[in-house]
Amino acid sequence: MTAVASVDRPDGFSDARRAEAEATFLVAHPRYRETGLVDELRSTEYGRLDESGDVYLDYTGGSLYAASQLDEHMAMMRERVFGNPHSVNPTSSAATILVERARAAVLRYFNAPESEYACIFTPNATGALRLVGESYPFAPGGRFLATFDNHNSVNGIREFAHAKGADSAYVPLEAPDLRVDDGLLERYLAAPGGDGHRLFAYPAQSNFSGVKHPLEWIEAAHDRGWDVIVDCAAFVPTSPLDLSVWAPDFVPISFYKLFGYPTGIGALLARRPALERLHRPWFSGGTVVAANVQGEKVMPLSGHALFEDGTVNYLGIPAVEIGLRHIESIGMDTISTRVQALGSWLLEALKRLQHTDGSAATCIYGPTDWERHGGTIAFNFLHPDGSPIDERFVDRVAAEHRISVRTGCFCNSGAGETAFSISRDTLIGAEFTEGMILDDYIKLVGLPTGGAVRVSLGVATNFADVYRFMSFAESFRDVAGIPGDLPPRLAC
Ligand SMILES: Cc1ncc(COP(=O)(O)O)c(C=O)c1O
Repeated sequence: MTAVASVDRPDGFSDARRAEAEATFLVAHPRYRETGLVDELRSTEYGRLDESGDVYLDYTGGSLYAASQLDEHMAMMRERVFGNPHSVNPTSSAATILVERARAAVLRYFNAPESEYACIFTPNATGALRLVGESYPFAPGGRFLATFDNHNSVNGIREFAHAKGADSAYVPLEAPDLRVDDGLLERYLAAPGGDGHRLFAYPAQSNFSGVKHPLEWIEAAHDRGWDVIVDCAAFVPTSPLDLSVWAPDFVPISFYKLFGYPTGIGALLARRPALERLHRPWFSGGTVVAANVQGEKVMPLSGHALFEDGTVNYLGIPAVEIGLRHIESIGMDTISTRVQALGSWLLEALKRLQHTDGSAATCIYGPTDWERHGGTIAFNFLHPDGSPIDERFVDRVAAEHRISVRTGCFCNSGAGETAFSISRDTLIGAEFTEGMILDDYIKLVGLPTGGAVRVSLGVATNFADVYRFMSFAESFRDVAGIPGDLPPRLAC
């Protein structure tokens, strides 16, 4: 039995074995051949991946940009003069035109009629969620309802609800698949409540497990009188979203997750009637027709302008239109077909991984098939005694292989609580105290592990990436002990 996984361990994954595995993969996933365009782009647009030898498998963290996105944006910046759009001078107008063109391009991309949806530029998906949370008309008798597997940027909305006297509730997930039972959700939506406004939030795709929840829930919730946030930050990078078919009230996204560049820009796509129900808690430059100081009067702007505080990122926003055009030139169907083929191959390979004694070498958190499953797989490697291999050790060995994956809890507390079987009673007893780090909390709660390993696929993933990952995964077979010098876990 191996004491410590070694990066030098010969893995037996020769080119010949890889070619053989790829041939078998292609027979099992014939539609993968339709995505050959991406293999061409891999050497032109994403050539830096193979030049550096990096295996990038953290697309749910952030996607990768194509070289031509940078070239086009940099040429625009070099050749033209742009000023602050809060003016009417020529350089200001030039910026305004490009910002408004990008706004229209975002709505077009999601097939969102401009008469029904507004596109508000924000710093990221979190910024979009905060806008909704701080402005939603929560009041006593109102409620914030969320599935367990929301990102913490959604969970944080409960603080706004509580501060205004509304209550909150969570719809649990079912282990081991980490899905929500439709009947149970229906009971939560139908539960009698007060007469206040009610807001329901769920991720179209969990950033923890990759589970895709039904978009049909939107209408079911509307029918019961709920406003609906569908967090699409982890969904839209590899799935089409058609807002002429689905009508969520609020959709937060981050553009770097969709096409890698630029960072620092997201959007809140908001249905106009729902937007009108929001009350901003303050005003700022850029959001008012006029404000005075002596009378303390303010006349707010309306639509997207009411929600874009200060100066928008007017040099970055034109790159959003460029990024959307790049994704359209590949086609979201191509991207999702590819991710589905590679993801299901990887999931099967991870499930099959065994120790010499025949025991399982992995524990998958979430569905073990590819039905309604996005390109994200969360799991832990296991020691032969069945205990999880510390994710910090996996991270360390991955770095030595130049493999980028995410480890930890992925800012998704509820999915982690379900995956690691943490009961409500345990959590109620666990008090946070000043100066605690995450490791103290893990000990307090008695978590079996500090987190999981997350592999996520995206626009530039190829067979060689997932194959190299499995070659690395093989080195965790029969690992009995790991070094004791791992860094402390500071925060989630
Ligand atoms: C589902 C989901 N929602 C929200 C967020 C927050 O995105 P950002 O950090 O870009 O604000 C993330 C980030 O990973 C996510 O995966």
